[in-house]
Amino acid sequence: MLIAKHLIDKYNQAIPRYTSYPPANFFHQQFTEADFRESLEQSNTEGESNISLYVHIPFCAHKCFYCGCNTHITRDQELVSSYLQALKQEIRLMADLVDRQTRSVSQIHWGGGTPNFLRAEQIADIMELIHSLYTFIPEPEVAIECNPAYLDYQYIDKLIDLGFNRFSLGVQDFSHEVLNAVKREIPEIPVADLVNHIRRDGKATVNIDLIYGLPLQNVEQFSQTLDIALAIRPNRLVTFSYAHLPNINPNQKGLEKYPMPDAETKLHLLELAYNKITAAGYLAIGFDHFALPTDELGSAIEKHELHRNFQGYCTKRTTGQVLAFGASAISQLHTAYAQNTKNVTTYISSINSGNLPIERGYKLSIQDITVREVINEIMCNLRFSWDNISAKIGITTQQAKQQARNAPDELNNLEADSIIEQTDNGLVVTNTGRFFVRNIAACFDPLNRENKTYSKTV
Ligand SMILES: C[S@@+](CC[C@H](N)C(=O)[O-])C[C@H]1O[C@@H](n2cnc3c(N)ncnc32)[C@H](O)[C@@H]1O
Ligand code: SF4
Repeated sequence: MLIAKHLIDKYNQAIPRYTSYPPANFFHQQFTEADFRESLEQSNTEGESNISLYVHIPFCAHKCFYCGCNTHITRDQELVSSYLQALKQEIRLMADLVDRQTRSVSQIHWGGGTPNFLRAEQIADIMELIHSLYTFIPEPEVAIECNPAYLDYQYIDKLIDLGFNRFSLGVQDFSHEVLNAVKREIPEIPVADLVNHIRRDGKATVNIDLIYGLPLQNVEQFSQTLDIALAIRPNRLVTFSYAHLPNINPNQKGLEKYPMPDAETKLHLLELAYNKITAAGYLAIGFDHFALPTDELGSAIEKHELHRNFQGYCTKRTTGQVLAFGASAISQLHTAYAQNTKNVTTYISSINSGNLPIERGYKLSIQDITVREVINEIMCNLRFSWDNISAKIGITTQQAKQQARNAPDELNNLEADSIIEQTDNGLVVTNTGRFFVRNIAACFDPLNRENKTYSKTV
C-alpha cells in the first residue's frame, strides 16, 4: 500500500484545495469593477511581466451527469453569437488598461464548458482580435479543452493553423459502459487516432483527462482504461477524483441510481493510477497530474520550477498574470483576483453597457502574497525555502516567516509521520507526503477556515 491506512484516517480532513490562495470562497462582492481596473493598472508595474489569457466558453450541447463545471446548456446560435461579440468587447476593454509595450502574452488557454462546441471560424475571429492587440513571447503555449466526441481531422487542422499547440481531451474513461452511465458521448473517431492526428507533424501536444470514482468503475475496469491511455502515451495525463456534490450540481443526481465506488475502492483506484502511470515513465506533479519527461512540464518538475494558476500547471517560461474573459472567468493578478458574473445573459448585457462584469473578487495583502508563494511552492515543487520566498517577494526572511501561520506542533507531527522533512530554511515533502500536500499547506495558512465547507484532502 502506497498510502498507509492510519495516515488516511488521521489526515483525511476538510481543507481547501488551494487552487488559488486565498481560496475562491474568500472572494467577496465589496470588490468592485473600480477595484479591478485599479489592480489591472497596478499589474503593469508589478508581479510577473508576462500575461496569460483565459477565454471561457460556457456552452455545451447537454450536461454530462458527473459535471461540476460552469456551463450553459444551449443550441441557440443567436445567444452564442451575442456572447462572442461581448467576449470581443471585453478583450478590447481590458487591453486598453494593459501596458502592451512592456507586457507580452506567454499563454492562451481556452476552457469551458466546451470550447470546441464553437465552429473553427468563430474561434479564429477571437484569435485574430487577440493577435491584433498583443505581442507574444516566442513559442507561447496555446491550449484548448476539447470534448473528443466533437473533434474531427479537419477541425483539428484548422485549430493547429490558428496556433493551438496543446489539446486537452476530456476522455474521462474508455469504458463505453461507464461513458453511457455518465451521459457522455462516445467519440466516433477513436481517441488514439485523434491523438495521432494532433501530433502528426510535431506542432502540438496532448493532455488526457480521466476521472476516477465514477459509477461502474472498479479496479479491473479502470486498469484497462489506464492501459489504453498509456498505450496512447499522451504528453500529459490527469486523473481527477470525482467530486460528487449533488446539492450544488443537481445533474449529478442522475448518477445515484448506479453503484458508486466507495471510499476504499476510490483509494485503490488512485493508487492504481499513480503506480501504473509512474511505472510507465511519467513524472508526477502532486499525485494526480503526470507529464512525460520530454514535455516542457517534465523538465520543470525535475528543476523544481513549476508554476500554476486556475488553468493548471505551467512553467517559468509560460507563467503570467492571468487576464480572464467570459462568464464566470477569474482574472489572477499579482495583487488581486476578480471573477466575472456566471450568468451568460447578465454577462452580455453588462458588457454591452460598457462595464466589466465583475461579480466578486479579492485584494491581496503582503501577508496573502507571502502565504500564496509558500503554498504554491509546496503544491508545485514539493519544497520551499524561506530565503527563496523572501527574495522573490522583496522582503527579509524574518518578515516572510512572520506573515505565515506558525504551527510548529503540526509540522513536527507531519515530520514524525514521514510526510515532510524540515530543513534549516523551510521543508521538503516526502514521497508519501505528496498525497497530503493540502494538509502541509494548511500549516502556513493563517485565514480562519471555520464556517466554510471544503472537500476531504484525499
Ligand atoms: C471544465 S471540464 C471541460 C472539458 C470539456 N468540456 C470536456 O468535457 O471534455 C475539464 C475537466 O474537468 C473534469 N471534471 C468535470 N466535472 C468533474 C467532477 N465533478 N469531478 C472531477 N472532475 C470533473 C473532467 O475531467 C473534465 O475533462
Ligand atoms: S463535462 Fe464538459 S461537456 Fe460535459 S457538461 Fe461539463 S463542461 Fe460540458
